[in-house]
Amino acid sequence: MRITNGALFSSLVGITVFASAQVTYENDVAPIINNHCVSCHKPGGYGPFSLESFSDVQKRAKFIGYVTQTRYMPPWKADPSFSHFANERYLSDKEIATIQLWIEQGLARGVASAVMRTDRLEEITLAQNQDADLVLEMAKPFELSADGIEDYRFFHVPTGLKEDTYVSKIEFIAGNKRYLHHSRIMVDTSGQTQGIDGLSEFDPLSRAFQKMPLMDEFLYGWVPGNLPVSFPERTAKLIPAGADLIFNIHYAPSAEEASDRSTIKLYFAKEPVDHLIKSFYIREDDIANGPFIIRANEKPKFYVSKTIEEDMHVVSLLPHMHFLGKNMTALAITPDEQEIPLIRINDWDFNWQSTYLLEESLFLPKGTVLLLVAEYDNTADNPLNPVNPPKDVTYGWDSTDEMMNLIFYYY
Ligand code: HEC
Repeated sequence: MRITNGALFSSLVGITVFASAQVTYENDVAPIINNHCVSCHKPGGYGPFSLESFSDVQKRAKFIGYVTQTRYMPPWKADPSFSHFANERYLSDKEIATIQLWIEQGLARGVASAVMRTDRLEEITLAQNQDADLVLEMAKPFELSADGIEDYRFFHVPTGLKEDTYVSKIEFIAGNKRYLHHSRIMVDTSGQTQGIDGLSEFDPLSRAFQKMPLMDEFLYGWVPGNLPVSFPERTAKLIPAGADLIFNIHYAPSAEEASDRSTIKLYFAKEPVDHLIKSFYIREDDIANGPFIIRANEKPKFYVSKTIEEDMHVVSLLPHMHFLGKNMTALAITPDEQEIPLIRINDWDFNWQSTYLLEESLFLPKGTVLLLVAEYDNTADNPLNPVNPPKDVTYGWDSTDEMMNLIFYYY
C-alpha cells in the first residue's frame, strides 16, 4: 500500500497530530523495529545483522521497506486473518505503511523522547536476567565437519534431579547460532539412552532408538527466534526424578569446521501446580484418507478428523511438516457445533517453524472434533523439494521423509 495523502495516513495510524506530521525514527519506526525485529537482529542474534541503532536501520532502510512490505520479515507464518497468538510477530498494515512513509519522507531521526522505545528492551533484558533454577549443557561440544551436509544428532543430557520437578518456563540457548537449525527436547525415564551421545539420525541404531517409548516426546521444541516458553499460572511440565533429557538437534550444512554446545535453562514452578502441561499430537496415524504416501509428481491433501476424549485447555500449537509441506489448516468443532479456528499456514516453510502460544488458554470440551487439512507438493516445481527427480515419500524422521503433525501443549 502506498500512501501519499498525509490526512489519510494520520487517520490510518490513528494519530491525532497535524496531517503533515513527520514520521521519525525515534517516535514511529524504532518502536516497530524493537518490537518485531530486534529479538533476532541484535549482536549475536539469529538475524544476519543488528537493527538496534538508528544507523543500523537507516543504512538498510530501503531493504527493510522491501522485506516488510512483502511480509518476508518478520518471519511469521500463521495467517492473522484466521487466528491470533500471544507471540505474534506480524506487522500490521499501518506499521508497514509507517515504515514506507518514513522512507518517502527522507529517514528523519527525530528526538528520542518516547518511553515506549525502551519499554520493550527493558522487558527483554529483565526476562533474560531472571535466574534459571537448573542449567544443563551438552556433555561436550559437538564438532561439525565442513562437508556441507546437514546433520541430525541425538545427545543424552542427564538432569541429576533427585525429586520430581515442576517446570514453569523453558529456554533453549543454541551453542552455535549460525548452524543450529532447530532442536527438540525429549524426556526419558528408562535409563536406556546413555549411549546416544552424538548419535546420528542416519546411523542404523537410531531407527531402534526412535521406536523407544519416551516419557515425554516433546518437552520443548526450539527454532531460531523462539523466545522462552512460559506456561500459564499454576501449570507446569513434570520432569521426574532421575530423568534424562535428549536433545535432538538439526544442524544446517556447514562449509567450515564449527562446534556446538547447547544449553537448556529450566525455571521451576514457584507456586503450587494445579495442572500438568501435557502434549497432544495429531499424527500421520490419524489421517482419514491414508496411507500417508506422497507420490512423486503429485500434490496430495490429507485430512484428519480426531475427537478428543477428555476436556482440554489448549496453551499452544506447533504445526510440523518437512520440505514438501505447502499449507496446513486446523480448526475445532465443539459438541455444541461452535467452530473455532486454530491455525492456518498458507505458505509453509520448513525453515520458519514456531510454537504458537495462544493469547489465553482455549477450553475444548471432551467430544470436540479437531479437523486438520495439509497439502504437500512433491513435484519438481517445489523449490524446497530435496529430491530431484521427485520420488515417493512417506512418514519418517529424516528431513527427506515427511510428517504431518499438530502438537498441542495443554492441561
Ligand atoms: C525470528 C527471527 C527474526 C525476526 C523477528 C526478524 N528477522 Fe530479519 N532475518 C532473520 C534471519 C535468520 C535472516 C537471514 C535469513 C533470511 O534472509 O531468510 C533475516 C534476514 C533479514 C533481512 C535480509 C533479507 C535478505 O534477503 O538477505 C532483512 C532486511 C531483515 N531480516 C529485516 C528484518 C526486519 C525489518 C525485521 C522486523 C520487521 C526482521 N528482520 C525480523 C531473522 C529474523
